[in-house]
Amino acid sequence: MKELVEKLYRESDLSDSELKALIETEDSGAAELLRLRADEVRQRYYGKKVWLRGLIEISSYCRNNCLYCGIRRGNKNAQRYRLTPEEILRCCETGYELGFRTFVLQGGEDVYFTDEVLCPVIAEIKKRFPDCAVTLSLGERSEESYRLLKSAGADRYLLRQETVSPELYSRLHPPEMLLENRKNCLFTLKKLGYQTGTGFMVGAPFQTTENIIADLRFMQQLQPEMIGIGPFVPHHDTAFANEKGGTAELTLRLLGILRLMFPSVLLPATTALGTIAPDGRERGLKTGCNVVMPNLSPVSVRKKYELYDNKICTGEEAAECRRCLENRIVSAGYEVEVSRGDCRLES
Ligand code: 5AD
Ligand code: FES
Repeated sequence: MKELVEKLYRESDLSDSELKALIETEDSGAAELLRLRADEVRQRYYGKKVWLRGLIEISSYCRNNCLYCGIRRGNKNAQRYRLTPEEILRCCETGYELGFRTFVLQGGEDVYFTDEVLCPVIAEIKKRFPDCAVTLSLGERSEESYRLLKSAGADRYLLRQETVSPELYSRLHPPEMLLENRKNCLFTLKKLGYQTGTGFMVGAPFQTTENIIADLRFMQQLQPEMIGIGPFVPHHDTAFANEKGGTAELTLRLLGILRLMFPSVLLPATTALGTIAPDGRERGLKTGCNVVMPNLSPVSVRKKYELYDNKICTGEEAAECRRCLENRIVSAGYEVEVSRGDCRLES
């Protein structure tokens, strides 16, 4: 098993059957070697730096009905809110003072946030904070919309593929959502010049190792600049309320594999990983992660952006999250980097 880790380290790739063996192995020595190699590769490309992305959750309205998601349209118990442009700008103001140089505007697929509403907000952020990157995470939109948002100043876009296995996709999503659309959106974003992020949930209901390998292959095709993975965490108001969640161990295993397969990728230690294990994000940082995304949303709305149960950081002010994360980064042996943090091309 250790030989497979070394081969992945040397060649950044394995066959499907080798990947399956490495994903499923219970050999703790191999798991530790994977962690060490992942850390070595992240340090070669990024040193000990960890980038901060200020996450602003702009809307909990969503026209979609993904079966796993707490803010799905069909959840009548979800509390809905949307931030005004002024509120979004105030979050950026706070974030800038705290040293964030990337703002991530994330939300459900809220029809209120048309291009006419969003473009001026993006342009204003870029005007007030010219040294900052703007990342959008607003789901599936038309090519024309992605083009307009890019012209307004957006630099990056996060859209997880969720899964590229057609059968699993249709078990996690309502019939009107199409895997083909999702994949097309991702290739369009790349084509338009966005730094593009994708990813999936680890341990989603019905997910097999083969499904995960298909996602890794898709990412080799897409060549994303960022990859976000986190454990599936059940939400009490969804059909998956009683399903098992993903584990920290499998998430960390895949983070290590991703770092070796995509040496220069930006890889966040996600909030979901921090939710299922108190030291989840620190362990992520030690297994190849180089990004964290502290919450910059107004505290008054945080509990309403509830994609899954027990989400952490919903009571803290932005400054508290910032301090807490800095402590965690330093205690894990890394350092906070204050710069935009664009993806470093392979050298
Ligand atoms: N558990 C973990 N992650 C979730 N997401 C949505 N619902 C859940 C859940 N129950 C993830 C999806 C989405 C991202 C914004 O949050 O992968 O792309
Ligand atoms: Fe909102 Fe899936 S329920 S994107």
